[in-house]
Amino acid sequence: MRIAMFSSKPYDRLFFEVGSNEHVIHYLEPHLNEKTVSLAAGFDVVCCFVNDTLSEPVLEQLKEQGVKLVALRCAGYNNVDLAAAKRLELPVCRVPEYSPHAVAEHAVGLILALNRNIHRAYNRIRENDYSLHGLMGFDLYGKTVGVIGAGKIGRAFIDIMLGFGCRVLVHDMVEDPQLASRVEYVGLEQLWPESDIISLHCPLTPSTHHLINSDAIAKMKRGVMLINTSRGGLVDTLAVIKGLKSGEIGYLGLDVYEEEADLFFEDLSNQVVQDDVFARLTTFPNVIITGHQAFFTREALEKIAEVTLNNISAFAVGDTASMTLVV
Ligand code: NAI
Repeated sequence: MRIAMFSSKPYDRLFFEVGSNEHVIHYLEPHLNEKTVSLAAGFDVVCCFVNDTLSEPVLEQLKEQGVKLVALRCAGYNNVDLAAAKRLELPVCRVPEYSPHAVAEHAVGLILALNRNIHRAYNRIRENDYSLHGLMGFDLYGKTVGVIGAGKIGRAFIDIMLGFGCRVLVHDMVEDPQLASRVEYVGLEQLWPESDIISLHCPLTPSTHHLINSDAIAKMKRGVMLINTSRGGLVDTLAVIKGLKSGEIGYLGLDVYEEEADLFFEDLSNQVVQDDVFARLTTFPNVIITGHQAFFTREALEKIAEVTLNNISAFAVGDTASMTLVV
């Protein structure tokens, strides 16, 4: 099959080239959106990532141009108008699981770095400043961690936090009896005030959009640590900035940001940041932001390439039963 891979980077090529002998991949740097969709003309498959826009007009044009499959090389599909894809009979597949450990471990990395001020200590030592003021952390042992969304990533995260000796509160639509023996399933009204750390691992849907807003922040423990490695839209960034300024939020670790499509995955070091909200976030000493890199491990990239190419190969021979289809 002829594949147009949007938003591609040299590391994608490294892993996709290994397994793609039966397909021809064209690596395109731009994001897929209404302006770039014409680049997909003549291809059978578009292979997309988290910041590609698969809106109704984009899907319509893909279909008109003869594209037969949308192969997402990520787990989340909040950037796809699924109703439109269904109406157009344009199948969409994804990589439902590549390495839940990669994302869970990154979330824990943010917690440890924020708590013990490792980002600040790193800079101090480089400047010959060996003082400890402002670096005091807290023991994770015995603290309460609230987890919203205990799917594949949430569970991997819970296992690690239980290993630290934390009490874990879980909020999810579905209760798993096996997990219930090790954690406490609670409503958000209990999770907000009791958690010292809150970590988001649910998908972005209309019902979870701005789950973290002023109302929720007002109910949280003062000085709470918030971690978001899921999707930027889960957090109302302006409300969080207000919470950081007032001290209601004591620490913030983000791997995702609502407006990240204009920033992340690119080297913008020679440019002036135009996003004033993001710029404000980067000024807080108790905020660590990484640029959507939680998934970025060797094991995850191998699995992403393998599952995506298997999906495309199965589609090529009409074996839809072997595909990980969304619609
Ligand atoms: P999953 O589908 O295995 O688990 C999601 C869980 O959230 C499920 O248990 C579901 O019942 C629960 N959930 C759904 N709506 C909820 C709500 N309103 N409140 C509470 N829980 C709710 O998904 P997985 O693989 O664990 O991934 C979770 C999210 O992580 C993805 O949706 C994606 O947005 C994000 N992600 C981020 C990556 C990164 O590099 N930063 C990489 C991969 C995924």
